[in-house]
Amino acid sequence: MLKKTAAERFGFVPFRENVLYRRVPETPWYQGDGATLTTLLMIQVITGITMTLYYTNAADHAYDSVRHITHQLTLGWLIRGIHYWSAGIMVVMLVLHVFRHLVLGGYKAPREGTWIVGVFQFFLVLTMSFTGYVLRWDERAVYAVGVVLNMFHNVPFIGDELVLLVQGGPQIGSLTLTRFFSVHIWIVPLFLIGLVGFHLYLVVIHGVTSRAEQKHPVRTAKEQKKVYKEAAHSEERGEWFHPRTVLKTGTMAFAVFSIAFLVALAVGPREMFPEGNLIQQSMPREEWWFWWYSALIAQLPPAIAPIFYVAFPSTLFIGMMLLPFVDRGVNRGLRKRPFWTGFVVLCVVVIIYLTYLRTKSPWTGWPDSTPPPTPIGVVISEEAESGRRLFARYGCNSCHAIASHGRRVGPDLARIEHRMSQTELRNFILNPTEDVPMPSYQGRISAEDLDRIADFVLVAQTFPREITVTGKVTER
Ligand code: HEC
Repeated sequence: MLKKTAAERFGFVPFRENVLYRRVPETPWYQGDGATLTTLLMIQVITGITMTLYYTNAADHAYDSVRHITHQLTLGWLIRGIHYWSAGIMVVMLVLHVFRHLVLGGYKAPREGTWIVGVFQFFLVLTMSFTGYVLRWDERAVYAVGVVLNMFHNVPFIGDELVLLVQGGPQIGSLTLTRFFSVHIWIVPLFLIGLVGFHLYLVVIHGVTSRAEQKHPVRTAKEQKKVYKEAAHSEERGEWFHPRTVLKTGTMAFAVFSIAFLVALAVGPREMFPEGNLIQQSMPREEWWFWWYSALIAQLPPAIAPIFYVAFPSTLFIGMMLLPFVDRGVNRGLRKRPFWTGFVVLCVVVIIYLTYLRTKSPWTGWPDSTPPPTPIGVVISEEAESGRRLFARYGCNSCHAIASHGRRVGPDLARIEHRMSQTELRNFILNPTEDVPMPSYQGRISAEDLDRIADFVLVAQTFPREITVTGKVTER
């Protein structure tokens, strides 16, 4: 009796009747991806809040505080590890969730609202997955900030203001970190958690795309309701949300979280790069869930890349928002939507391929292990010849062409405008000028290899403007 009153007093009764003990059409286990995302989000909140107890968001202490969490605190490494791995898995699951609903047509009437709220969640989670690793304030973080600033800089009209807004001042510094902290810890989670609540509320109200809806074309929202209700209340095609659905989707959520947990246990948290250095350029590297994107950018001609930076996410956002209004077809489900099934398969293949390309190359998506050619008839010294090979080994040719051969991220090195001496060249490679998007090779190259590469670049100054393909020196 008391129990029942308590349930009433705390408003649990309508929840129990309308949410827990409601009939839903039979739910296959893989529809647990939503429950999985919700679970992972909760894990992120718990581990994240735990870390804020020790994290310091001042640029001169942030890095040390992360190291402290990792190396000194009891189980700190595990908390950081879980936070990191479940973040990565969350991004993957989220993309799969979106793909699944593209194939199903999960955004169709009456679920347009569920989808639109979901689109915002999608971009908020990506923002979280990006701002999170900036907080480590290591080299990777500083580089990542550079990339996002570059992106904002290319936004038409308001680019410079956006950069100021993100940076918090004229340069990347302590204020920048404070802003990323605030965005990662307060602003985005607040919206995200609110929207997740809204999304789930809509899921309860409209349900999720059922098998019955996939069997026959459903023309209107009204018809959908009828089909859905029939299946939910049928003896064999329906089930009780609690405990049947909860059990199935909960099992999936638990299994996926267990993966994140076990990987964290086995591998530990993400390695830290050397502390972020605001004076020198650092090695461009991003977290693995952005590899494909970085490789994609690297494939584009330099003239298009800066536009693409901005255009791609904006187009994606607008496209996703408009989708329910553009695709008004009546069919739902894998079999009835061959176009979308093909599209999703294509996306998955492209993403995996781009990711693979990125793993093959230190900086760009287009690894090129062939050294640049020397002109026919030109004999270069032994030193310069070994420099030519090292030029490819150290990835110089993933950015620099020699006499019009190779990629054009940086200038063609057979024509350096301001002639450089051997020493100047060496110093430049070790510490490129601050505003040049070239990685510093300090500590990454032996003095001897550096000499050889400089020898080769100097010899290349005597090369003709263009080497014909026939002049290509064959390898080995
Ligand atoms: C990630 C791409 C990237 C890589 C990798 C890279 N560079 Fe650069 N490098 C650049 C860019 C971009 C510039 C300068 C563009 C500018 O000055 O506007 C540059 C400039 C230079 C310059 C000065 C050229 C001039 O005209 O002033 C030299 C010399 C140079 N790089 C040598 C190298 C060598 C040698 C390597 C390999 C050890 C290398 N770079 C690797 C991107 C790269």
